[in-house]
Amino acid sequence: MTLIIKPAAGPLLGTVLVPGDKSVSHRAVLFAPLGAGESRVRGWLEAEDTGRSLTAVEGLGASVRREGGDLVIGPGSFPGVGPVGPGTPLVDIDCGNSGTTTRLLMGLLAGRRVHVRLDGDASLRSRPMARVVDPLRLMGARIVYEGEEGRLPVLVEGANLTGIDYPLPVASAQIKSAVLLAGLCASGETTVSGGGASRDHTEKMLAAMGAGLDCREDRVTLKPDSSLRPLDMTVPGDPSSAAFLLAAAVLVPGSSVTVAGTMLNPTRTRFLDTMADMSADLEIRPDISENVEPVGEVIADYGALRACEIAGPGIPALIDELPLLAVLAARAEGTTRIRDARELRYKESDRIATTAAGLRAMGVEVVEYEDGLDVVGCPGGFPTDDVARIVTHGDHRIAMAFAVAGLASRGGVALDDDACVAVSFPEFFTVLSELQGGGAQS
Ligand code: S3P
Repeated sequence: MTLIIKPAAGPLLGTVLVPGDKSVSHRAVLFAPLGAGESRVRGWLEAEDTGRSLTAVEGLGASVRREGGDLVIGPGSFPGVGPVGPGTPLVDIDCGNSGTTTRLLMGLLAGRRVHVRLDGDASLRSRPMARVVDPLRLMGARIVYEGEEGRLPVLVEGANLTGIDYPLPVASAQIKSAVLLAGLCASGETTVSGGGASRDHTEKMLAAMGAGLDCREDRVTLKPDSSLRPLDMTVPGDPSSAAFLLAAAVLVPGSSVTVAGTMLNPTRTRFLDTMADMSADLEIRPDISENVEPVGEVIADYGALRACEIAGPGIPALIDELPLLAVLAARAEGTTRIRDARELRYKESDRIATTAAGLRAMGVEVVEYEDGLDVVGCPGGFPTDDVARIVTHGDHRIAMAFAVAGLASRGGVALDDDACVAVSFPEFFTVLSELQGGGAQS
């Protein structure tokens, strides 16, 4: 459905909590069935993407129940380690729009007594899978593409796996995680190197479950282990969701927004450092208590921005925030250069192309590169006075980034799809509206 976001009538003010982190929520439900007993997960993100992971583990036999707001997950009849026997029924898993569900499940299941077909929506079917299938095959996995080579759907038949020493071709947490999860079922150790600044939730959460992990100098080595402890954790607020609200505060005159309980894991907060490089008025207050991940409060106030350079090995630590940073760059003094971000082309949409098209619809001058963008800032305001038509390609982060742009524009924006925010932040428009005193949406 099309949604018109009108320019904000006044400042955004208030303190909000964002929903649980998407990456941690996926991992919590995917890893919980590996624990010897019931895991308890508080603050889990109820959203379309994470729902795919939950439905998948339930379909594979894990026991799932809800106690109050907590998820309680036990192994139930979740498949154990070993090659699949003859006649094992095929389990169909629909991963929807979720790359994390797909890629982590491939690694998780490659060495278990199971026979599955993994498939997804049109966006997921267009995304690259060989980056995960190739290293898993090196470990002995039996994974077959049903249709086009390198794309979903795939068939996974549990096999005997052997540990490998794998240098990642791209610094991707999803590939790293898939190989490590397969390594749990392998004979011998598994090492993954080259993860760089990619998020490290898999390492932290598997370590919390007692897995034998050694992380040093960009190398993670894991000892095989089929008996992990159950998880007992609170999912922290999602910094990638918080980012939209903080950016809205920076762009809308007079605003001051506090996001409480957001995760402050350094592999996820690089966008805050970048906003600070752009002179954004930010304050970060870490909390004392920690539960697997550090959390805290972030306060953002309205203020002028200046352009900066966003490139280099830190890119994986802000990859999901780049479309939003490009929106901020469009309101900064000077030209912002974003480079080394080719991975953006393989997300829920080609985010270099969708971001460039959205900014152009708002009258901003953008130069597109294979691995990034130059965004010519307009500190006086987005040039167009008309409603800018934004084609989201069903991409949740594009919809939210341009909703923020719309609030800070003169003409507003028309998003061709507002429902896609349900992938990661179903309450997004409600929270935005509350920060504006309950009005402003149409
Ligand atoms: C994710 C890792 C990132 C990120 C995605 C979630 C994860 O992808 O873009 O939204 O939960 O591991 P890559 O690891 O492929 O870069």
